Formats: sequence, structure tokens, C-alpha cells
Amino acid sequence: MRLDSAGVFACIPRFGKFMPWPAGAVLWLIGICTAAFAAQPVEFPHNTHMKLGLACIDCHTGADIRAAAGIPSVTKCMLCHAKLARNKPEVKKLIAYADKKQEIPWQRVYGFSTNAHVKFRHAPHYRANIACATCHGDLTKATVAPRAVNFTMGTCVSCHRQRNASQDCATCHY
Ligand code: HEC
Ligand code: HEC
Ligand code: HEC
Ligand code: HEC
Ligand code: HEC
Repeated sequence: MRLDSAGVFACIPRFGKFMPWPAGAVLWLIGICTAAFAAQPVEFPHNTHMKLGLACIDCHTGADIRAAAGIPSVTKCMLCHAKLARNKPEVKKLIAYADKKQEIPWQRVYGFSTNAHVKFRHAPHYRANIACATCHGDLTKATVAPRAVNFTMGTCVSCHRQRNASQDCATCHY
């Protein structure tokens, strides 16, 4: 039953939890909104970099082999920016982090609340030939990565059903 209208039902327990306390509901909404419009410490444009002929997994090096896709370290950015585009204001911010030997404190765009106990893994999806764009939208046109897809349990389960992938609770939950 739950699986059939999973998207809606996955949300109800959360609303139920927070309804008696309006402050909780407000915080919950703020959480969702910050995730959707996270302001990044450096405005890294995906489109500009994809035009250079880079592949997604050149930077997100775990996406084909690990659970997490990963965000590249500032040292990777500096392989090019030690020389390139040093005068652009956003690149100056990047260089300032590199000079201080600090990682850039990127705001997460995707993710699940820890309450949901979800374990997602990139590698099996990569092996099943599911394009990054299916789950993240077309980043070759995006500047700062937007939250293009809002994952509910329904989003995951309906594809798993179509593709004959596992629908066991323990596949996706710990
Ligand atoms: C030159 C390196 C680079 C390349 C190439 C690149 N990315 Fe990114 N990506 C980043 C950085 C840095 C961030 C963190 C900043 C941000 O979220 O905007 C990021 C963020 C993301 C996020 C959001 C992560 C989160 O916080 O949840 C997604 C999704 C993503 N990239 C997917 C892609 C896809 C798909 C491609 C290929 C079309 C791609 N990236 C190519 C560097 C890169
Ligand atoms: C393969 C080389 C390469 C790598 C790796 C690379 N960049 Fe760039 N980046 C460029 C080039 C080339 C430009 C200038 C493009 C242009 O002017 O059209 C650029 C432009 C930029 C800009 C300026 C965009 C603008 O127009 O204001 C920012 C910000 C930036 N990169 C951040 C990063 C960050 C952060 C990383 C690491 C996650 C990174 N870059 C990794 C080559 C690279
Ligand atoms: C089946 C859907 C799906 C596909 C396909 C997919 N992702 Fe993701 N991606 C997600 C989900 C869900 C998250 C959030 C995971 C979490 O927080 O546990 C995520 C998170 C990310 C992040 C944030 C950092 C991290 O390690 O979690 C990056 C970067 C990313 N994906 C890049 C990519 C790239 C690049 C590809 C293609 C090679 C890709 N994704 C393919 C669903 C997908
Ligand atoms: C577009 C289709 C699609 C979407 C969306 C999707 N998956 Fe999958 N998923 C698959 C396929 C196909 C496999 C590979 C099954 C296989 O290897 O036999 C898979 C495999 C997995 C596996 C590994 C299962 C195993 O047996 O090792 C996990 C975990 C998983 N998915 C979790 C998720 C979660 C969580 C989401 C939502 C955030 C999600 N998936 C969204 C199609 C999808
Ligand atoms: C294909 C992956 C997948 C499978 C299989 C799956 N779930 Fe989920 N489930 C998710 C994702 C992803 C979320 C988080 C959605 C969100 O953040 O809105 C979720 C959320 C939930 C929540 C809400 C948790 C909360 O507090 O937010 C419950 C309860 C839940 N799942 C129970 C189950 C049960 C029981 C099963 C087995 C019948 C199951 N799930 C199977 C992916 C899955």
C-alpha cells in the first residue's frame, strides 16, 4: 500500500510530527528552502566547465565506483586555476581558500534528513546506465547546481519497480 502512493505518504509522518509545534514546521520549511536555493561560497558554474570537455566523473570521481559521488577538492580546481582566469572575482575567492589551504565549505544541494535513514549508492546506478541528468537535471546548462529533482520515496521506488530493481526496505534504508 505504502509503496503505491509513496511520495505522499513519505511526507505525512513528517508533517504529523511537526504540526503541533508551528515553530517546528517553519524550521522544516526553512530547511527545505535552504537546500533548494543554497548560496554557495564560490559561484562555481557547471556550464562553463562542461564546455571545456570535462566529464562529470572527472570531478565527481566516486560516482562510477562508490556510494558517494564526492565533491572535488580545492587542489583539483587549482590544477587549472593556478594559471587560468585568476582575475575573475569568483576565482579570486577560490584562490583565497587555496592560499589558506582550506577546503571550500560547499553547501549540500541534495541529501536526505538523517531521520529517513536512507542509504543511496551511486555505483549501481552508474552500472545500470542511468544518466546523471535523470536524477540531477541537465548540469551542462546550469551555472550553480540547482536542486532539479526532489527525491521522495516514490521517485526512487517507481523507477525500481519499472526497472526490476529491488524494492526491499533494506535496499534503501538502514
Ligand atoms: C570541474 C569540476 C566539476 C565538473 C566537471 C562537474 N562538477 Fe558537479 N560540482 C562541482 C562542484 C565544485 C560542486 C559543488 C558546488 C555546487 O554545489 O554548486 C558540484 C556540485 C554538483 C552537484 C550538487 C551536489 C550536492 O551538493 O548535492 C551535482 C548533483 C553535480 N555537481 C553533478 C554534476 C554532473 C551531473 C556533472 C556533469 C554534467 C558535473 N557535476 C560536473 C564540480 C564539478
Ligand atoms: C580543466 C581546467 C579547470 C578546472 C579543473 C577547473 N576550472 Fe574553473 N575555469 C576554467 C576555465 C578555463 C575558466 C574560464 C572560462 C571562461 O572564461 O569562459 C574557468 C572559470 C571558472 C570560474 C569563473 C566563472 C566566471 O565566468 O566568473 C570559477 C568561479 C571557477 N572556474 C571555479 C572553479 C572551481 C571551484 C573549480 C574546482 C571545483 C574549477 N573551477 C576547476 C578551468 C578549470
Ligand atoms: C538514481 C539517481 C541518481 C543518479 C543516476 C545520479 N545521482 Fe547523484 N545523487 C543522487 C542522490 C539521491 C544524492 C543524494 C545522496 C545522499 O545524500 O545520500 C546524490 C548526490 C550527488 C552528489 C553530492 C555529493 C555526494 O557524493 O553525495 C553529487 C556530486 C552527485 N550526486 C553527482 C552525480 C553524478 C556526477 C552522476 C552521474 C555519474 C550522478 N550523481 C548520478 C541521485 C543520483
Ligand atoms: C531512474 C531509475 C532509478 C531511480 C530514480 C533510482 N534507482 Fe536505485 N537502482 C536503479 C537500478 C536500475 C538499479 C540497479 C539494480 C541492479 O543492479 O540490478 C538500482 C540500484 C539501487 C541500489 C543498489 C541495490 C543493490 O541491490 O545493490 C540502491 C541502494 C538504490 N538503487 C537506491 C536508490 C534510492 C535511495 C533512490 C532514490 C533516491 C534510487 N535508488 C533511485 C534504478 C533507479
Ligand atoms: C528504492 C528506495 C526505497 C525503498 C525500496 C524504500 N524506501 Fe522508504 N524512503 C526512501 C527515500 C529516498 C526516503 C526519503 C524521502 C524524503 O526525504 O522525502 C524514504 C522515506 C521513508 C520514510 C519516511 C521517513 C521520514 O521520517 O522521513 C519511511 C517511514 C519509509 N521510507 C519506509 C519504508 C519502508 C517500510 C519500505 C519498505 C516497504 C521502504 N521505505 C522502502 C527510499 C526507499
